[in-house]
Amino acid sequence: MKREQWKSQLGFLLAAVGSAIGLGNIWRFSYMAYSYGGGAFLIPYLVALLTAGIPLLILEFGIGHERIGSAPLAYAKIKKNWEWLGWWAVTFVMFGIVLYYVVIIAWCLNFFVLSFNLSWGDDPNSFFFKQFLSLSKSPSEIGEIRTPILFALIVIWFINWAIVYRGVQRGIELANKIFMPLLFVLTAVLVFWSLSLDGAAEGLKAYLTPDFSKIADPKVWIDAYSQIFFTLSLGFGIMIAYASYLPEKSDITKNSVFTAFINSGYSLFAGLAVFSVLGFMAKSEGKAISDVVSQSIGLAFVAYPKAVSMMPAGNIFGAIFFLCLVVAGISSSVSIIEAFSSAIIDKFGVRRKPFITMISVIGFLGSIIFTTQAGLLWLDIVDHFLTHYGLVVVGIAECILVGWFFRLDVLRRHINRISNIKLGLWWDILIKYFVPLVLGIILVGDLYNELKKPYGGYTWTSLILIGRDWILFTLIVAFVLASRPWKTEHIKKGGRSS
Ligand code: ALA
Repeated sequence: MKREQWKSQLGFLLAAVGSAIGLGNIWRFSYMAYSYGGGAFLIPYLVALLTAGIPLLILEFGIGHERIGSAPLAYAKIKKNWEWLGWWAVTFVMFGIVLYYVVIIAWCLNFFVLSFNLSWGDDPNSFFFKQFLSLSKSPSEIGEIRTPILFALIVIWFINWAIVYRGVQRGIELANKIFMPLLFVLTAVLVFWSLSLDGAAEGLKAYLTPDFSKIADPKVWIDAYSQIFFTLSLGFGIMIAYASYLPEKSDITKNSVFTAFINSGYSLFAGLAVFSVLGFMAKSEGKAISDVVSQSIGLAFVAYPKAVSMMPAGNIFGAIFFLCLVVAGISSSVSIIEAFSSAIIDKFGVRRKPFITMISVIGFLGSIIFTTQAGLLWLDIVDHFLTHYGLVVVGIAECILVGWFFRLDVLRRHINRISNIKLGLWWDILIKYFVPLVLGIILVGDLYNELKKPYGGYTWTSLILIGRDWILFTLIVAFVLASRPWKTEHIKKGGRSS
């Protein structure tokens, strides 16, 4: 079977940017920037981008391109008994992250529709938690499925299915060629609109004024590195699979730098809209900015709807905002489904179309738990464990595998041969020592906090049964998949430089 390929370099770049820009860029980034002292967060964020984000992105693009394979194939070609690592990455994103990620997109789709009539009324907080989610008190009180969320979920899975089903060129590439320009235009409309609101300047001041006293807090650094990881879709196996569809002559470093800067540039830009709107709301209510921002999820689904209700033509503004989240979200969720599917196709030689249909149905069924009344609580726990432990462990392991068991200089020479921006020894040092060290510190810090007190005030039983066991389940699936024999010839071939 011939490997699929991108039609153009631009198509690849847009797909990589589409994967990177997601739900994480809009509300998660803005909230972090705000809570860590505005402009001061940008320093750790940029340091994390330059010292870990870009070097690892180069590594993932480089390995996918050089070994010509999805994560399990690429790793297996480096060292056979590390194949499980590739499977683990694509398994915990497919049977973990994407299952709740699509549910958040489904909420956004609901809110897109609700925006037109500002249906959340005067109290968006109680609307979101009580009426919309009908949130239960604990993860064990599952309650019933929320029908509006379920219906939106069907739509979102259908769109994902329709895109990935059509393959790399006619599906993912085409979708991103439409989605990315659309997202940039819609975001620009939001930014310029919000800058004209009364009070916007106050919001921007809160967003961009550095508070250097917060920069000494190690947690800012830990969160900045985790954010860079999540936002660049590193450790997901996505960028490896996407780069494996590149033709021989492709500029790896340029594509990495472009993807990283467009992604972070987008976050910074979208943050302008988020904070101008908060500034407007604070001014309208006569409050301080610090009193109008709610935590994480609340920023998009509580604070924003509230501000939108106060704005002239706010319903249109709200609709555009939630549409941006839907578009950004789908271009990321398709990349996760592709990372897993590409791995299965590489190993078992199955046909794309029937497989995508099957995996989409399984994915939909797996997402249903997050549409129940306990959905947000489950989501919170699973997200905490998978992003804190899954992504970081994969990141450390891939640096060790490629840095210590593979000749990193071979990979560097391969990248340098086809790229304009050349990598020096500094890159080897970052990959071999610096990145694993920083990620190791993050991991130890996280584990320490984990054991000190139960995350999010949940009971230990919930955290163990939902969080830890979810990770163990994906690990078992990964080992089972890795133990199966190869049904294709791919594994026998080496890389482009061997
Ligand atoms: N990179 C994607 C995001 O930021 C997963 O949401």
